[in-house]
Amino acid sequence: MKNFKNKVIAVTGAASGIGRALVEGLLAGGARVAASDVDDANLQRLREFGVAADLLLSKVDVSDQAAMQRWVVEIKGHFGAVDGVINNAGVALSCHAADQPRAQMEWLFNINYWGVINGVEAFLPELLRRPEACIVNISSLFGLMSVPSQSAYNAAKFAVRGYSESLRQDLRNTSVSVVTVHPGGIQTNIANNGRHLHSITGKAEDREKTAALFNSIAATSPEQAAKKIMRGMQKSKARVLIGSDAWLLDKIQRLFPACYDRLLVPVMNIGTRMALKRV
Ligand SMILES: NC(=O)c1ccc[n+]([C@@H]2O[C@H](COP(=O)([O-])OP(=O)(O)OC[C@H]3O[C@@H](n4cnc5c(N)ncnc54)[C@H](O)[C@@H]3O)[C@@H](O)[C@H]2O)c1
Repeated sequence: MKNFKNKVIAVTGAASGIGRALVEGLLAGGARVAASDVDDANLQRLREFGVAADLLLSKVDVSDQAAMQRWVVEIKGHFGAVDGVINNAGVALSCHAADQPRAQMEWLFNINYWGVINGVEAFLPELLRRPEACIVNISSLFGLMSVPSQSAYNAAKFAVRGYSESLRQDLRNTSVSVVTVHPGGIQTNIANNGRHLHSITGKAEDREKTAALFNSIAATSPEQAAKKIMRGMQKSKARVLIGSDAWLLDKIQRLFPACYDRLLVPVMNIGTRMALKRV
């Protein structure tokens, strides 16, 4: 996708964070945007960007397969076609694997994994009709390496990466490119809205501080993340890493794939203790 002028791009989880910044960036780049989210109140605030004719707002839950299929029909009815989908909606869950209630894990998987699959399956038939089209799936740095208390999030984001890299190969001889995105810490609401059953430090008294701790170490703005994703779409990049933290930690897990945790966990613990003093 060389440029965004008059392209129709669908963005899930558009009411906040990276999704919201993508909507702003895409509209500024000349795209027409179909934005969806479960949070209708914040979704309506996208009208602040002031280009109503180019913006379609829909309340859609990505974990609802039928709703995602209906959304594509709505977009086609409104704009006539669709050229790209950014499967961005996601949630956070912190819990030790040994004590993790299955229902919590399923909640996260239904959004972070099945939400992406629902998006691909709903949009792909329409995208294949376009001369150039793009699927963007948002994984995470935690789709490249694992950390304590994130087993469900890690598993879902690794699964998004595995699925997307295979999908890219399946679509190699078509007009549809597939971009997998691995953000490091981005300053969004994901931790504030997440479910934190255990703390990352293993200490009960730190549980309430999980979101504040995450927020204190997230270094990249959603706007910077959106710019990087849009550049990745324009260059049809297979993988987009966002932030110097993602860049560095990706290198470390490549050098020490079987023991990066022994190296990183003590460093993370020092960083976490320092950050906890600040929050
Ligand atoms: N913030 C980070 O540091 C970070 C790092 C790596 C990956 N990510 C990923 O980036 C994506 C965007 O997250 P963000 O950081 O902007 O978070 P955010 O919480 O600011 O935004 C996520 C949006 O998804 C929406 N959402 C939640 N459940 C939904 C559902 N079932 N259907 C539709 N929408 C739903 C929320 O209402 C929210 O508006 C997620 O996939 C997240 O896992 C974020």
